[in-house]
Order: sequence, then C-alpha cells, then structure tokens
Amino acid sequence: MTQHPTRSVPIVACLSGDGIGPEVMAEAGRIIDAVSALFGIRVRQVHLPFGGEAIDKHQDPFPPHVRAAVKASDAVLLGAVGGPRWDGAARRPEAGLLALRKELDAFANLRPVRHRDIDLMVVRELTGGLYFGAKVEGTETAEDNCTYTRGQVERVARWAFRLARRRSGRVVSVDKANVLATSRLWRNAVNELHAAEYPELTLTHELVDSFAMNLATRPQAYDVILTENLFGDILSDLAAAVGGGLGQAPSASIGSEPPGIFEPVHGSAPDIAGQGEANPTAMIMSVAMMFTYGLGRRDVGRAITAAVETVVAQGIATADQISGGRAYATWEVGQAVCDALEHHSTGGAEFADHPYAEVPAHG
Ligand code: NAD
Ligand code: IPM
Ligand code: MN
Repeated sequence: MTQHPTRSVPIVACLSGDGIGPEVMAEAGRIIDAVSALFGIRVRQVHLPFGGEAIDKHQDPFPPHVRAAVKASDAVLLGAVGGPRWDGAARRPEAGLLALRKELDAFANLRPVRHRDIDLMVVRELTGGLYFGAKVEGTETAEDNCTYTRGQVERVARWAFRLARRRSGRVVSVDKANVLATSRLWRNAVNELHAAEYPELTLTHELVDSFAMNLATRPQAYDVILTENLFGDILSDLAAAVGGGLGQAPSASIGSEPPGIFEPVHGSAPDIAGQGEANPTAMIMSVAMMFTYGLGRRDVGRAITAAVETVVAQGIATADQISGGRAYATWEVGQAVCDALEHHSTGGAEFADHPYAEVPAHG
C-alpha cells in the first residue's frame, strides 16, 4: 500500500461530520473491517471531530489538532458537514471542508457515475475559482473573485486525459467561454495541453448552460467531463441524479501526493438525519475509491464495487432507491455489502466450514 515510509499500517483519518455523516461513516468502518479480515490487511481508523461537530466542541470546523492528524494520515474519509443549526454562525462547517481541501491541495475531484447505460466521470477542479477567490462581504455589496492560472487548469486537465486514456478516449471540457475570461483561459490551456500531450484523445468543448441540458436529456453521450470548481459542483449533483441518485455517488479528491480525501457527493441530508434511513452506498463506494486511488489497492476497491453491485441487483436498498417493496435501513444495506464481500472472496464454497453444516436436520 501507499503509506508513510516508516509505517506498516496505513492510517485513515475518519471525519464523520454532521447529519447523516456519522450514520454512513459507521458503515464505511464496517466495510474496512470486513475487507481487512478478508484480504489480510491492517488499516487503522482514527476518528476526529470536523465541521459542525468541531465547531460545537472546539469553536473551529477544522481545529489545529485535526489538521495535524489529517496531514499525518495516509487517506481521509469524510462523511458530510453542515446543517441548519450552524447556518447563521460566524464560522460555517463548510469552511472547514474548503480549508481541508486547500490544506491537502486536493485539486482533482473525481466523481464517477455508473448506472445502466450511463458511465460518466466528472473531473472537477477543486481548489480554485470562485470558491477560493478574495471575498468582500458587506450588507449592500458583496464580491467573490474568480481566478484561474494556466498551471491550475493543466494539472486537473491531465487527470481528465489520463482517465480518458483508460476509458473511451473522449473528454468534454465544460466552460462559459462566451462570457468569462477564466473560461477562455481554461479552454486555451486545455486545447494546448491536448495538442501537446494527448493528441490521440478526442477533446470537445461545451458551454455549461446547454451542456446541463444535454447531460439531463442524454447522459449516455458523455464519458469524461472536465470542468471548473463551481460548474463541477452543480453538474456532479445533476450527473448523480440522472445516474441513480445522490445516495449512490462517491468521490475522490486527489492532489499530487497522499493523503487524498474520499467523500460522498451528497451532503449531511438534515431532512433524514438520525432516522437510520440514509443510503450508505455513496460512502461505501468512496471507501472503494480510497483503496483504489488512495492506498494502492485496486483489488480491494474492485471487490467492494462488485459487492455493492451485487447488493443493488438484489434490490436491497434504502428508501431513496426503492419503488415499491420494503425500504432497508442504513445498517442493513451495509451488512448486505459485508455479506456479499464474503461471498466474493470465498468463491461460492461459503457454507463448507459453517459450524452448523455438520449438524443433522431434526427428525
Ligand atoms: P444534501 O446532499 O445533503 O441533500 C439533498 C437531498 O438528497 C435531500 O433530500 C437528502 O435527504 C437527499 N440525500 C442526500 N444524501 C442522501 C443519502 N445518502 N441517502 C438518502 N438521501 C440522501 O444537500 P442539501 O440538503 O442541499 O445540503 C445539506 C447540508 O449539507 C448543507 O449544509 C450543505 O452545505 C451540506 N453539504 C455538505 C457536503 C459535504 O460535506 N461534502 C456536500 C453537499 C452539501
Ligand atoms: C460538495 C459540496 C461542497 C462544495 C460544499 C459543502 C462546500 O457541495 O462537495 O459538492 O460545494 O464543494
Ligand atoms: Mn456539492
């Protein structure tokens, strides 16, 4: 595994956060325990306060001791942050998330969506643009500055091209070059990088407004979607919606070195928090991405993905996914994935060693 040179057991910093965050993180923990046993690997999970929870405890959404622990970790797993309780507060939970992404320079946010005939990979720039520009916040005037440098565009575009090479070879870059200066820089930088380093791949450009319409009406037409921070935020929720729902959409946020951040696309879902009905699939698939992209264990990532696919095919799903039939609880879906993992690793001979296998039937 990719890990600290002197460390034999990789450390995963688990930031559960708020709302349904702790509920889906609990299932992530069970999946890590299950694959640890099945693959004979060891992973240390360190739980730390983050977001609203950290504001309540430490008056800071990303306290210094959490910052230090995260930087010393091999991968960061994040539930979700935010909620109405902190909406009027001087410090918002979301500010902690942005500070975490900036601190780790996690500039490439990969948001895959696979559902029926849809197979998308949104590559969202994550540490630039309007999110991180200088702000002025007055009562009569407010300002958000949008800046991109060529280097920022090139490094995230490389991710899109490298992924496209292993997929269909097609990248669509989405911008607003008919209006925004940053988009014109974006388009030029992407075009020049393509010509210089990836001429064998097919690159197209679309304007974000009509692209949103096309994504909603014919998502099958696309593969790798490269875009800037704010457009990527919006388009990745849309991609999730056309591809089976937010409850299923995972993500990986990666910089030039570990730790990466692995987090669902969805938020803290205050409307369903505390009821045990949140869909843990997005979080579990984020664990799969953590093994694949963050810990160098593609085999483990694949096994988790296969187990999730089995469970989805069995119709074991939370309320957001079912149309008729019974809604399963968060823990039941997590348990079903653990069960499916065992079946995958024992190759069908799973009952042979069961202690009751030798017990004769009654009568
Ligand atoms: P949301 O993603 O939390 O919820 C949108 C809708 O999707 C809700 O109806 C919710 O119930 C449903 N949903 C989301 N995840 C689900 C799951 N796993 N299972 C079943 N249903 C699910 O978006 P929102 O309501 O706009 O935001 C709520 C809070 O979350 C806000 O404070 C926002 O800032 C924050 N947020 C945080 C993150 C993050 O931490 N990465 C991401 C997005 C939003
Ligand atoms: C996401 C979220 C975050 C974002 C918020 C909570 C800061 O919506 O990860 O998509 O806008 O990036
Ligand atoms: Mn979002």
